[in-house]
Amino acid sequence: MTDQKFTPRVFSGIKPSGGLTLGNYLGAIKRFVAYQDTDFETIYCVVDLHAITVWQDPAHLADATREVAAGFLAAGIDPERSVLFNQAQVSEHAELGWIFNCVARMGWMNRMTQWKEKSGKNAEAQSLGLFAYPSLMAADILLYHATHVPVGEDQKQHVELTRDIAQKFNHDFGIDFFPETQPVIEGPAMRVMNLRDGTKKMSKSGESDMERINMTDDADAIARKFRKARTDAEPLPETAAGLTGRPEAKNLVEIYAGLADITPEAVLAQYPGAGWGVFKPALADLAVERLAPVSAEMARLMGDRAEIDRILGRGAERAREIAAPILKQTYDIVGLLRG
Ligand code: AMP
Ligand code: TRP
Repeated sequence: MTDQKFTPRVFSGIKPSGGLTLGNYLGAIKRFVAYQDTDFETIYCVVDLHAITVWQDPAHLADATREVAAGFLAAGIDPERSVLFNQAQVSEHAELGWIFNCVARMGWMNRMTQWKEKSGKNAEAQSLGLFAYPSLMAADILLYHATHVPVGEDQKQHVELTRDIAQKFNHDFGIDFFPETQPVIEGPAMRVMNLRDGTKKMSKSGESDMERINMTDDADAIARKFRKARTDAEPLPETAAGLTGRPEAKNLVEIYAGLADITPEAVLAQYPGAGWGVFKPALADLAVERLAPVSAEMARLMGDRAEIDRILGRGAERAREIAAPILKQTYDIVGLLRG
């Protein structure tokens, strides 16, 4: 199948479950912003239906949704140039998600690494939604015939599953309807690791706040967390190859590279053989320089919730303009009767 017939279109999403981290910023949001300066159409979504695959306090969910939207806006998503909305306002996502539940196979879902990690030894007690969520993610993407999906490394398998679902749908119904979406995972910090354990991903929900940088952390918190970040005793190597087998050192160098928009090699060339006493404060300064304006703007935006709601409502209307005809065609292809 050639993808020539599909408009170059980016779609990506972030769950409103806990605050945004430096992992979300480098692995996702910062790259979403950059796509606005390309020829791609850009559609960004706060995926609240995904958040409720695990318990969310109803008293906090709406504000968590607004806060992720504020993070997008503060980082530079322009609601005129991009379509920015929350998933619950466009019911087509859930409808296509159901159809894909009937296309995806149990075996495919069972192989998802994130499912295995999250369900652990207690799969029986997890929600059915948590198991099925990659097929809703496929619906998020394919509802817009999105051709490219920028995500962090942890989501690669889910975008590959999206391709499998598109292919099986096209094959089963004998039609070339859904594109083969590309995951886009480029740049140095596509898997930002936990600051206390370089073998674990930095996530919103780790036990200790010291293991992550939140996008709302102030300068003192950022400096303290990097100062206390776990490292080995060696200074920085001269070349990137020297980072092999040193997960914590590799992580801090990659974070620096991601924030500075340079390669890890360039970071090492700038700090040849530096000790942590030099490198950690430099990293903290850079992180504060990049994140402080974003967190200040997030706080300002959260002071005007009505404005965020207005932006998301308008975005939802624009999203539906693209989504509704694609869902309608899908219903027709499947043979579902709708007047
Ligand atoms: P989530 O917070 O799970 O909804 O993730 C939203 C986006 O942020 C996805 O594209 C993830 O791949 C990305 N992301 C989350 N955590 C990290 C991390 N530690 N490193 C890089 N990207 C991340
Ligand atoms: N599953 C993604 C995550 O946990 C979030 C997500 C939902 C997403 N739908 C998406 C990302 C569609 C990209 C495209 O990080």
